[in-house]
Amino acid sequence: WYGWADVATLEQSMAGRAVRLRGAAHAVRAVGRRVAFVVLRQGTSTVQCVVAAAAGGGDAGMVRLAAGLSRESVVDVAGVVSLPREPVHGTTQQQVEIQVKKLHCISRATPNLPISVDDAARSEADVARAKAAGEQLVHVGQDKRLDYRVIDLRTPANQAIFRIFRQVLLSEGFVGIHTPKLIGGSSEGGAAVFKLDYNGQPACLAQSPQLHKQMAVCGGFERVFEVGPVFRAEDSNTHRHLCEFVGLDMEMAIRDHYFEVCDVVDRLFVAMFDHLNKNCAKELETIDRQYPFKPLKYLPKTLRIEYDEGIRMLKEAGVHVEAMGDLNTEAEKKLGELVHAKYDTDFYMLCRYPSAVRPFYTMPCPDDPRYSNSFDVFVRGEEIISGAQRVHIPELLARQAEARGIAVGCIAAYVDSFRYGAPPHGGFGVGLERVVMLFCGLGNIRKVSLFPRDPRRLQP
Ligand code: 4AD
Repeated sequence: WYGWADVATLEQSMAGRAVRLRGAAHAVRAVGRRVAFVVLRQGTSTVQCVVAAAAGGGDAGMVRLAAGLSRESVVDVAGVVSLPREPVHGTTQQQVEIQVKKLHCISRATPNLPISVDDAARSEADVARAKAAGEQLVHVGQDKRLDYRVIDLRTPANQAIFRIFRQVLLSEGFVGIHTPKLIGGSSEGGAAVFKLDYNGQPACLAQSPQLHKQMAVCGGFERVFEVGPVFRAEDSNTHRHLCEFVGLDMEMAIRDHYFEVCDVVDRLFVAMFDHLNKNCAKELETIDRQYPFKPLKYLPKTLRIEYDEGIRMLKEAGVHVEAMGDLNTEAEKKLGELVHAKYDTDFYMLCRYPSAVRPFYTMPCPDDPRYSNSFDVFVRGEEIISGAQRVHIPELLARQAEARGIAVGCIAAYVDSFRYGAPPHGGFGVGLERVVMLFCGLGNIRKVSLFPRDPRRLQP
């Protein structure tokens, strides 16, 4: 008669009900030999379980078992929901507790945990406050967290971060596709590819679904998207680069203008941000408690400014920028601040980049080929998306590839797919870890990757 229940849904109206719960022993405290308290945790929810010896002493063994549980051990508890005399501080389900009748340890955690969930869950502000008050609180550094990631992931903020991450949904009539991750050569140009041997042929891990998502559009799918791994062998030890990240890529046929692609960015992201603010308020609060952040400011219709206008704003602010050059990270950040001050938004698009700084497959502007039908999207002054209209004319595509030193022979199948009738099309690629990092102001991409792969880290 002990039915399985969830810690998150326990409430006062369930008093008297017999339930079974499985969770981690988050904290264990014994009071003499007759009572032990086990705080049981499932995800971000915790409840106090009271293990008491009956008057005759018959359950003393169960109290001993409870008192000896190592933290993080997985236990099954069967008991009765009851109402505590006063709210149980330090748990999320403060209004109820469980009077335990049976207790089983399912998986015993080593008593010497390398890091504790409570230590990993502390905000830097908490640690600083404690230090000022002369208390000693353990601070767990980023590297140590990542070494013991399966424990670090159990902190409330991490549980919330990864729940949000999965709630990105597309509902615009796009077909989900899966493009190959083993490919013959670089798609974004440059040497930043992981090379491998493909049964005697040189190959690499896909730098992007770029070429194949375009070929899917040529294959008659008007609108396609993919959420999948993207591999970059760049040696960038920064807060925002990973060697493997999760890309959300889309590609669509366009009718009149590449702004149709920007319109999808607009609808998708405004809906996503609205959804997060409305339906994930609890998760956002949980993250904010450990990693305080300012809510993201965005407009109902995303601001679009042209590259030239962005350059003008930077120059006026005294920032040195190369004429017709790409913006470096500092210039992007500065422009984000200027845009915020002028337009009161942290989310905007910069359009019409110079052709020279975009990949070979980018469509030049019809009115001035020095510029291109392209755009980047920024959150708090950092890039999360790059997108553009693509060249669907095979001769122009081959010319642009050659001009950048790409051997057309290596991408012949790609160029050829535009010889059989190809619609004008465009698309974009998003780095999803960057979106979550920047939305939540988390400051380091490793915090939002389950098991980050950066230039130095291949474990765990
Ligand atoms: O700007 P990127 O390289 O563009 C492409 O891959 C194009 N094929 C996309 C397109 O459809 N035009 O990468 C797209 C996004 C970036 O805006 C950034 O958010 C993310 O992917 N990104 C990275 N994220 C984490 N670590 C890295 N090393 C990243 N490199 C790019």
